[in-house]
Amino acid sequence: MSDSLRLIEQPEWNALQTHHRTMALCHLRALFAKDPHRAERFTAEAAGWRLDYSKNRINADTVRLLVNLAHACGLPNAIAAMFRGDVLNVTENRPVLHVALRNRSNTPILVNGRDVMPEVRTVLQQMNAFAQAIRRGEWKGHTGQAIRNILNIGIGGSDLGPAMACEALRLYADPHLRIRFVSNVDGAHFYEQTRDLDPAETLFIVASKTFTTQETMMNAATARAWLLARLRDEAAVARHFVAVSTAEREVIRFGIRPENMFRFWDWVGGRYSLCSAIGLPLMIAIGPDRFEEMLDGFHAMDRHFAETPFEQNLPVLMGLLGIWYINFFGAQTHAVLPYSQYLARLPAYLQQADMESNGKSTDRHGRPVAWSTGPVLWGEPGTNGQHAFFQLLHQGTVLIPADFIGFAAPHPDPLAARHHPTLLANFIAQTEALAFGKTADEVRAEPTPEALVPYKTFEGNRPTNTLLADALTPRTFGALIALYEHKIFTQGVIWDIYSFDQWGVQLGKVLAGRILRELEAEPEPPLRHDSSTNALIRRLRGVRPQHS
Ligand code: F6P
Repeated sequence: MSDSLRLIEQPEWNALQTHHRTMALCHLRALFAKDPHRAERFTAEAAGWRLDYSKNRINADTVRLLVNLAHACGLPNAIAAMFRGDVLNVTENRPVLHVALRNRSNTPILVNGRDVMPEVRTVLQQMNAFAQAIRRGEWKGHTGQAIRNILNIGIGGSDLGPAMACEALRLYADPHLRIRFVSNVDGAHFYEQTRDLDPAETLFIVASKTFTTQETMMNAATARAWLLARLRDEAAVARHFVAVSTAEREVIRFGIRPENMFRFWDWVGGRYSLCSAIGLPLMIAIGPDRFEEMLDGFHAMDRHFAETPFEQNLPVLMGLLGIWYINFFGAQTHAVLPYSQYLARLPAYLQQADMESNGKSTDRHGRPVAWSTGPVLWGEPGTNGQHAFFQLLHQGTVLIPADFIGFAAPHPDPLAARHHPTLLANFIAQTEALAFGKTADEVRAEPTPEALVPYKTFEGNRPTNTLLADALTPRTFGALIALYEHKIFTQGVIWDIYSFDQWGVQLGKVLAGRILRELEAEPEPPLRHDSSTNALIRRLRGVRPQHS
């Protein structure tokens, strides 16, 4: 995009606005009736995934005009720049190279002229050796017992990715190991996650890119106290704590030995770090081979994103469809609905990936944007959501584009497999109902008393994507996460925002530090906030435990 023309001044944007006036009046019923090959026309495949985007309020012109916009906004150059290691995270002066973490080719990737691939491979080998030692019972705790419990202490990108992935790939995990996650600074989280554990068999992974995050440091200090209260020997820390971080000095200051540290690099964003050493709990759970299969899946989607024409490019198409609804139809939220209990944590993971990346209102020239950017992303697994919020999706007053994610193969357990046709029937039925609805005449013909007809009518015309893979494997899982990462990238480029910083989380952190001092200081210090904040601080100073 040229400096002089902002996004909404581009001719390609204006063309889409004009086109929207026509498409806003079209119903999916008519679009499907007109074209018997519509499903085929609007389906694309990559890395084990099939995207059917035919149930969107688009025609061939929409795709053409959206692709034109992507070109006008410089998406091809931006993709090349990311894979080349250019400094795309300008406000933090860093390249954005999560693709290097799963680069399975022999191609070097350069940061400041230096190939980062040897370091990436070295850390993967270190993780591999450690994961094997834990899985084989060779890594002993301080008292000589094998480790059975792994507790990851981290938050945000240092928690959500591995926590979501351990749940997603649970079927592949060693059932003898308990892998748990502590993130919240609410002490109840640590308490509940550890109350039934034996410290002699427990290993803590302290995961923090910066190793300064308040919640993580507090939970890590509590973990240390919990361990030492039972094992009563400082030397135990070396056998029960490892760190994943970019900050060696901070790790050593905490008391973790450098040989027990797994490194990553400042060119890996927290929310894009699952394939780095941040994935260590996952590698311990599923083993190095499965972990590598996951990296293969990520890499396959990376190559697809970098090499495929936009008209067949899954992340680009999904990104552009998001732009279509957010910027032209005024949609403000986007639902992600996995029809897989294993993917229960996917929406929470994607909330950070998407909302921390594209929840921005300043463009890349420091000016306020004059267009909507990242949506509120939310979701729950199907079929649970159907009995909760789907009412609003079907008959509410807001337009909510939704991704339906499903798998063809049933669960390997024969009893669980019996559920699969029912799960799939619901998966398919919902997108059909959302698209086509039910007319008043169809309701009347049921027959239905006239007074109830308006209530039982479904307008339809509610857009969905269907993402389908054969089975949830490490490989298809990796490809799915990469798909969403690159969708987010596509949208950030078009919105002309920096997707890889997160300044919006700073203010609250700073204020919390000040308020903590004011809550704890004796006597009460002068409070210089607004009257509401001052009153809350006064009310909560010196509160004591109330439970018996
Ligand atoms: O507060 C936001 C954030 O900076 C995220 O971007 C990051 O994933 C998380 O905190 C945790 O940071 P760290 O890994 O440095 O502890």
